[in-house]
Order: sequence, then C-alpha cells, then structure tokens
Amino acid sequence: MASAAGLWLLLLLAPGSAYFPEERWSPESPLQAPRVLIALLARNAAHSLPAVLGALERLRHPKERTALWVATDHNTDNTTAVLREWLINVQTLYHYVEWRPMEEPRSYPDEEGLKHWSNSRYEHVMKLRQAALKSARDMWADYILFVDADNLLTNPDTLGLLMAENKTVVAPMLDSRAAYSNFWCGMTSQGYYKRTPAYIPIRKRDRRGCFAVPMVHSTFLIDLRKEASRDLVFYPPHPDYTWSFDDIIVFAFACKQAEVQMFVCNKEVYGFLPVPLRAHSTMQDEMESFMHVQLEIMVKNPPVEPSQYLSVLPKVPDKMGFDEVFMINLKHRADRRERMLRTLYEQQIDCKIIEAVDGKAMNSSEVEAMGIQMLPGYKDPYHGRPLTKGELGCFLSHYKIWKEIVERGLEKSVVFEDDLRFEIFFKRRLMNLMYDLEEEGLDWDLIYIGRKRMQVEHPEKSVPHVRNLVEADYSYWTLAYVMSLQGAQKLLAAEPLSKMLPVDEFLPVMFDKHPVSEYMEHFENRNLLAFSVEPLLVCPTHYTGDDGYISDTETSVVWNNESVKTDWDRAKSQKMKEQQELSKEAKNSDVLQSPLDSTARDEL
Ligand SMILES: *[C@@H]1O[C@H](CO)[C@@H](O)[C@H](O)[C@H]1NC(C)=O
Ligand SMILES: *[C@@H]1O[C@H](CO)[C@@H](O)[C@H](O)[C@H]1NC(C)=O
Ligand SMILES: *[C@@H]1O[C@H](CO)[C@@H](O)[C@H](O)[C@H]1NC(C)=O
Ligand SMILES: *[C@@H]1O[C@H](CO)[C@@H](O)[C@H](O)[C@H]1NC(C)=O
Repeated sequence: MASAAGLWLLLLLAPGSAYFPEERWSPESPLQAPRVLIALLARNAAHSLPAVLGALERLRHPKERTALWVATDHNTDNTTAVLREWLINVQTLYHYVEWRPMEEPRSYPDEEGLKHWSNSRYEHVMKLRQAALKSARDMWADYILFVDADNLLTNPDTLGLLMAENKTVVAPMLDSRAAYSNFWCGMTSQGYYKRTPAYIPIRKRDRRGCFAVPMVHSTFLIDLRKEASRDLVFYPPHPDYTWSFDDIIVFAFACKQAEVQMFVCNKEVYGFLPVPLRAHSTMQDEMESFMHVQLEIMVKNPPVEPSQYLSVLPKVPDKMGFDEVFMINLKHRADRRERMLRTLYEQQIDCKIIEAVDGKAMNSSEVEAMGIQMLPGYKDPYHGRPLTKGELGCFLSHYKIWKEIVERGLEKSVVFEDDLRFEIFFKRRLMNLMYDLEEEGLDWDLIYIGRKRMQVEHPEKSVPHVRNLVEADYSYWTLAYVMSLQGAQKLLAAEPLSKMLPVDEFLPVMFDKHPVSEYMEHFENRNLLAFSVEPLLVCPTHYTGDDGYISDTETSVVWNNESVKTDWDRAKSQKMKEQQELSKEAKNSDVLQSPLDSTARDEL
C-alpha cells in the first residue's frame, strides 16, 4: 500500500498533472486546399456532358473548396435540361454554384451552321469567359479552371498536378486520335496557327515536361494568386489588338500584353478531346466523333463512366441490318470481352458472343478425334514452323461460326475478334457500304473490314459504283469481316479441317490469291468472292511489342508437338504496325476522317 508521501511523489512525476498544468502539444493543422472555380461553357453538348461531368466529379480536389460556374445558351438540343439536372443534384456538394442558362435564341443570327464561328458567337464566348473570371476574382478564388464541354479529364489528379507547376496560365496537354491537341507551338505574325518542328515531339511525348508555348486553349488553369493574372482579360480585346476576332487568339494576345507566359504540360495523360470536324458537319457527326473519343480511351484505359448525378437514357443496340453479329472471345479473356461489349454498346451494336476454342487446352488425341489434319507441307512463311495450337483454336472458332451461319441460314453476318479498335464513324460507314453493295446487286461472299494487306506492290481493283470497296488480294488477319451464307457454305464445302492451315491463310487460298500454289492445289473450288473495305474500318488494339500486349495465338506450342515453342506472332509484328500507320495517313484523305484543314486550330 502506498503512503501519503509516496502518492505525492507519483503525482509530481506524472506529466501534465493538474498540479503542473502544461499546454497539450499538437502538430500544426495542414492548410486547406486552394479555392478553385471551374468554369464550363456548354452549347449543344447534351451528348458529351454525361461523360464530361462524370470526369469533373471524379477530380480529386475537395468539392467544398470548389465552385462551379456554368453557362449555356443558343442550344438546339437538351443541354440546358442536362446541366440543370446535374447542378440541382451536385449543388450541395460544391462550395458555390453559379448558373447562367439562356433558352432563347437557339442560334446566332449571323451563323451558317453548327460549326460556324460567327463574330457574334466569338464575342459572346469571350464575354462569358470574362464573366467567369470576374466571378472567380470576386469570390477570391485562388484558381480558375476553364474546361470545354467536350474535353474529358480522365486523370482525377489533373488539378493538383497543374497547381504544382506553379504557372500563371497552364494547360494539360489533351490527347486525341490524331495530332490535334489544345496547344500551339508556333504563331504567325498575324496570330494564326503556325506548324513548327517542336510540336510533334511534345504531342507524342518524346519530350516530356512543361513547355512555354504561344497558345493553349479549351482546358487550362489560371493562378489568380499571381500578380500578373490581374491584367488578364478575355473581353474586350486589347486596344492594340488587330488580329482575327477569335476568342483563343484574343486571350493569347492578352497574355502577351500582360507578360504572362502560357505553358502546356505533357508529363502525364490528363485527358482527351475530339478532333474538330469540318464546317459542314452535323450534330450526328459531332455525337459520333465524341463517342469515338470514348472508344479510343477504352483501348488502354478503363471506360469513362457517365455522371452518377444524371439520368442517362439507355442506348438501343441493334445488329446494323445484319442477320447476326458474332464476337469471338476466349472465356478466360474477360478483360477483352468486357471491353468489346462496352465498345459495341457505345456504338449501339448488339452482338452474340461465341466462345472461342482454346487450342492450348486441346491435346493430340482430341485433335485427332475431330479428324483434324495439318495441310501437308504447310510452314509458317517467316518462321518456318507448322501450325501452333493458338492458330488451331483460332481456326476452329471461326469454323464454328461458319457452321452456325449455314445451320441458321443467315444471309449476311459480321464476325468480330475481340482485340480490335474501331475507326471513327464505323457503324455508319459499314451500313452505308452494305447499302451501296445491295443497290448495286453485287455478288459477294467475304468482305474484310480489318486486315493486313500482304500484296502492296499492285493496287487492288476498286469495285465500280460501290464507294470504299476493293477486290481483295492476298491478305492476313481475321479481325473483322462480313460473311454471306453462300460464302460460309463454300468454306465448309472445302473441308478445311482435314487440311488445316491458319485461318487467315485459308481465306486467300479460297479466293485464289495465295502466293503458294502448293497450298492451293489441295482445294479444288477456290471461287470465294472476296472484297475489302478501303480504307479499313478496324485495326488491332495492340501490336506485338506494345505495352500490355498478350496474344492468344503467339507464345503457344506447335499444334502436334508440345516441345516446340514459338514466340513469334506472324501476323502482328511491329513492322506491320508501321505499315498500318502509313496506310492510316493515306486514309486521312477520306472525307469523313479528316478534320478541318484550313483554320488556325488544325494540326494534322
Ligand atoms: C433531357 O435531359 C433531362 C435531364 O437529364 C432528361 O431527364 C430528359 O430525358 C432528356 N430528354 C431527352 C429528350 O433526351
Ligand atoms: C511559385 O511561384 C512564386 C512566384 O510566382 C514563388 O514566389 C513561389 O515561391 C513559388 N512556389 C513554389 C512552391 O515554388
Ligand atoms: C485429352 O483430353 C481429353 C479431354 O480433356 C481427355 O479426356 C484425355 O484423357 C486427354 N488425353 C491425353 C492423352 O492427355
Ligand atoms: C518435336 O520437336 C522436337 C524439336 O524439333 C523434335 O526433336 C521431336 O522429334 C518432335 N516430336 C514429335 C512427336 O514430332
């Protein structure tokens, strides 16, 4: 038992005791996040807003330190209703919301079409940006972020990353399917776009960093804490301004006058934007072009989910006028299946999944039981090896579909593999092609939609009166094709299982265009009517050597010999990727493909 004196001693030694009061020490609290105002100007953007707003919601900056400034006007679509629904649902999450809708008029009096930027439109946009800037200053925001209504900020850290650069005006470089982005590297003495050698290395991220440039637009951050930011104006143009009356050029000039340098950063992937369309483009073009941005994002990234605060109407997929749309997928490649299903859904294409035959899981006795025999003397043209198990499985998967086509009597079907990437306006272009072909009464069996042309010396014969169709010469790949009932019947009648070669070698044999006549001798009727879409409408998602590439036909053993391994993919080598890209450049002459080429904003 402790004596009274002992108790005293204990109390004396006890720290922070009532007898020797001492302040409890706690570390300094961290600073609050900077105050940001996000300014969004939207016009006829009902199609892009669900994804764009979803991306804004996912920005990691605290919402209670973020204000929203949203304006919309001159709409012919549902933009006002979409924004209103969103703002009602999110307003309590954000510090403050300013909403400037204008229902009427629905267009500018001096405007010739949706893509036309008339002077009154430029002036209106400049005034809106100025009003947003004023709101940000009035509320003593530290930063203002301007975002265009079709710019997708897929990187949730974009705001923090840009702030860390400590620049007065800084833009995240946005990616597109082409060379286009939201910055310029050169400007003419009249303030127009100037092509310079510095652009492409930055755009392709061969050089990474934050670069001083004469122009950033669409999405950019202004640091309002910087003294020089006080001199920045969007409207009215500087008194010395004589260049074109264009909001982005007016602002770039204002920055120069204020001695504020614009910067673009490409250290990370921050987001994506569509390539501007031609002046005569329609609302439908615009919608499909934005949808294609989402498809391109999905090639290497997760899909951009729409805002959770909007009621988004479900899409209505169809079969594009075909009797069936098949998609071949190996059961264990759920990643590819999910990506393809989402990609098709976004394009409103319905499909039937065909479980691919896994050649690697088959043993020799099974192969024999199916009556499968390799074509005598077949050797891979590059590697000199026989068929691999992967190629065996691939053949059997396509064969399974041809059988279903014949059994169900399907007059015309599309077959997709699951590792492909769609070109812009895919669905519309394919449907237009089928329409032309039927109008012309063309007899056809097979139409390649995506392939590797193997005979590049001679041009292929184009089909009269059917736009974008050629007679197919020796080709590889079975990425995507259209097959007729008659075509599938011819392929089955050839009894290919008893003299198998890779499916993409078998098809050219069947249309009598294979360069190795010994292979062709084994097949009597080589009368398949084969064509190809030109330019192609799909290409592979990945090529050998790309990050994340896993092939199901390469790195597989030779079909009848477990000890011979192969790691060489005949079809999709790096060299072929280069050839594809070259042909893609040629393709840019296509009307639908090419962005506007005469204005200051173009970069191709
Ligand atoms: C317009 O948008 C509102 C709000 O998102 C939605 O409820 C409505 O269904 C949309 N209308 C049309 C025709 O898309
Ligand atoms: C940011 O830039 C300002 C000058 O504009 C400078 O005073 C400040 O130290 C910089 N901050 C950091 C973290 O580098
Ligand atoms: C081949 O596979 C089948 C089905 O999986 C199996 O029943 C059979 O035993 C296998 N044969 C050999 C030789 O491994
Ligand atoms: C499999 O290939 C190896 C190496 O080429 C060869 O030595 C072996 O005889 C082959 N086996 C069969 C069953 O063909």
